[in-house]
Amino acid sequence: MSQTAAREKPGTLPGSSGFCRDLVAGLKLSPKTVSPKYFYDDTGSALFDAICTLPEYYPTRKETDLLTRHGAAIAAQIGPDVEIIEFGAGSVIKIRHLFDTLDRPRRFTPIDISGAHLHASAAVLRADYPGIEIRPVIADFTQPLALPIRDDARRVGFFPGSSIGNFTPAEALAFLTRLTGVLRGGGLLIAVDLIKDPAVLHAAYNDAAGVTGQFNLNLLARANRELGADFDLDGFAHYAFYHPVLNRIEMHLISRRAQSVRICDEIFEFCEGESIHTECSYKYSVSSFQALARAAGFTPVDVWEDGWMSVHWLELQD
Ligand code: AVJ
Repeated sequence: MSQTAAREKPGTLPGSSGFCRDLVAGLKLSPKTVSPKYFYDDTGSALFDAICTLPEYYPTRKETDLLTRHGAAIAAQIGPDVEIIEFGAGSVIKIRHLFDTLDRPRRFTPIDISGAHLHASAAVLRADYPGIEIRPVIADFTQPLALPIRDDARRVGFFPGSSIGNFTPAEALAFLTRLTGVLRGGGLLIAVDLIKDPAVLHAAYNDAAGVTGQFNLNLLARANRELGADFDLDGFAHYAFYHPVLNRIEMHLISRRAQSVRICDEIFEFCEGESIHTECSYKYSVSSFQALARAAGFTPVDVWEDGWMSVHWLELQD
């Protein structure tokens, strides 16, 4: 962390230069677009944890139910003595279900973009599971990964939270294809949110307490904090809807009026009603996701689902 800070310009927070570059580039697109990975600064990660406990946000609860209910079957598929690599680990709560059921897990390598959050969670895990080597990696897993080579344990990827939904199907295919290299000879346990009643999906991203709105708007607050941008948070509104043909939730921030905003020494004009597209969350059927996994080179071996959420076990040959 301190090495990174030393390389940055004075007055610029570590890691914020990529945010500046990507935000400016995204706001020059039409429609204006920002990657959802920038939701997850410390405030955003805490807001996401709050989303996971909302009554309308079913994915976390349904996934936890599946991991708990089918723990023995999942552990039997994964096998003994594995290294678990978790992508986008956040607060690493779900891994506990695996730790509690797996046969002698050796090492846990959680990868997340939010460093403070990850290190705090890793410290708690170390205390609770002294027999497992916990090795957090602060990285953007959407970029090519340089993981330390340790071929003493079979590698199993864990991608919970249906975060794969943030990728377009083409990006998901590219990502899964890249994972086949990292996980060769092992497998991937991945949660994928299912296509369902649009009203249920709509409610999950438009909660009554407004936490999802805060989470979305935190992107602008983060730009103000880290980049000295001058977004007026009252000038933008959270807007989320389900697109039933593309099978995805879209989240937007809608400009409530014509306004201009200064970000990284550039001025951006917003018309009244203009949107910044901040997230896509794709939903799949069991079979449409299995087809995607097969196209990437995985063999779908098992799936646990309850009509709301699915957890897939995908294997890779040596
Ligand atoms: C972390 C990408 C799975 O798409 O449901 C929750 C993020 N956005 N509420 C999702 C999110 C708004 C979440 N993922």
